[in-house]
Amino acid sequence: MAANAGLRAVIAECLEAIIHQGASLDRELEAARGRVASIRDQGFLQECVYGTLRFVFVLRFQLKTLLGRPLRKRDAILECVLLSGLYQLRQMSIPAHAVVDQAVAACKELDRAWATGLVNGVLRNAERRAQALGDIPSSDLPASWNHPAWFIERLRTAWPEDWSAVLAAGNAHPPLTLRVNRLRGTTADYAARLLALGITAHEIAAAPSCLVLEKPVRIAELPDFDTGAVSVQDAAAQLAAPLLDVQTGSRVLDACAAPGGKSMHLLELADGDCDLQALDISAERLKSVADNALRLGLTCRITPGDAGDPAGWWDGVPFDRILLDAPCSGSGVIRRHPDIKIHRQPADLTQLQSTQRKLLERLWETLKPGGKLLYVTCSVLPSENDDILAAFHADRTDCAIVPLAVEWGRATGHGRQILSGENGMDGFYFGLLQKRADV
Ligand SMILES: C[S@@+](CC[C@H](N)C(=O)[O-])C[C@H]1O[C@@H](n2cnc3c(N)ncnc32)[C@H](O)[C@@H]1O
Repeated sequence: MAANAGLRAVIAECLEAIIHQGASLDRELEAARGRVASIRDQGFLQECVYGTLRFVFVLRFQLKTLLGRPLRKRDAILECVLLSGLYQLRQMSIPAHAVVDQAVAACKELDRAWATGLVNGVLRNAERRAQALGDIPSSDLPASWNHPAWFIERLRTAWPEDWSAVLAAGNAHPPLTLRVNRLRGTTADYAARLLALGITAHEIAAAPSCLVLEKPVRIAELPDFDTGAVSVQDAAAQLAAPLLDVQTGSRVLDACAAPGGKSMHLLELADGDCDLQALDISAERLKSVADNALRLGLTCRITPGDAGDPAGWWDGVPFDRILLDAPCSGSGVIRRHPDIKIHRQPADLTQLQSTQRKLLERLWETLKPGGKLLYVTCSVLPSENDDILAAFHADRTDCAIVPLAVEWGRATGHGRQILSGENGMDGFYFGLLQKRADV
């Protein structure tokens, strides 16, 4: 397709890569943005791609109802034209004639001119049958809750009181949340600067450097963002660094550091003065750590390496503090990464669990006696959280669980859980371990 092809065709291609080829939302959207000239159209692209993924299960249910027979596999791109068309009709309230005209034009651009009648018919029918299409049988779990059935079942088991609130949070728009760089000014002062620009932001009790914007804005509109006054980070993610109680001069490892949100927060809390090694297995993702450090004027040792194989990167001097922000299902941040709804499968959980366990075991060898390790995930599933710490703790005599004396979240036995949506935050888990010096 030509580089200047219509916006609806770009949206469909982007969705097709994510839904049918397993591509990541972040990467595909970035590439698609490069094919769209105006900022306004880039905003529309983002809203359509995020929104279609966020509502993909209900949109698929409606499309199935509208289509006489399923589309062929090789016409997956048409499914994406139709899903994003339905999203524009239902959730963006764009007039039907505009949605239909653009979807028909997209078919031609995508070499599917033969399908213009079909697309026209389905979308017009969707408009006519809007009310009936809204009646979703409660027996259809994915369409009713807009999440995969296996995930709904696991949540129900894990959180019998709260599962539906967690799912509702996974369907919501996340706020834009900032972390004010305390080395550059106070949270209240930055909120006042925003207000002077007509941007309202609220402080929250749990995270002193945090500002939640009432309405999202473009990053370019944030005063002094480029020179490090603030970073974008959810409030729950901002709860990690203070738990490690890093002192000036401490030797600290951030074992899964990229893109560097928590590393930079650790450095800010230590007045920029601790020996922080920022490790990550992805050299590509580590570039963001370097960019963030440069923007914030902070220094750390950036090291590509596998946290599960310390021989490759550890100099043998033990760490006072380790942050293990482990690779996980991301089940607590679905509202920010709706492609997780499509991509994550139950088998991934088994694989992740064994990685989490291995990283914990190997990193423990690099921790100083008396030192602390904070285990964090952005997951709400106990199999990646308490279960991992419980098994690790049960196997060792030199590991103590440190109770977290905080007001937020809920105690889980070995750590603390914030469920997605709780006080407007992402879902996160935190468990603090100390290596006993007396064994
Ligand atoms: C949840 S993200 C980390 C987010 C980061 N701590 C922050 O706050 O910005 C998990 C990271 O773990 C990294 N990772 C996955 N497996 C790893 C391994 N075996 N060793 C080191 N890093 C790993 C991924 O590349 C990813 O960047």
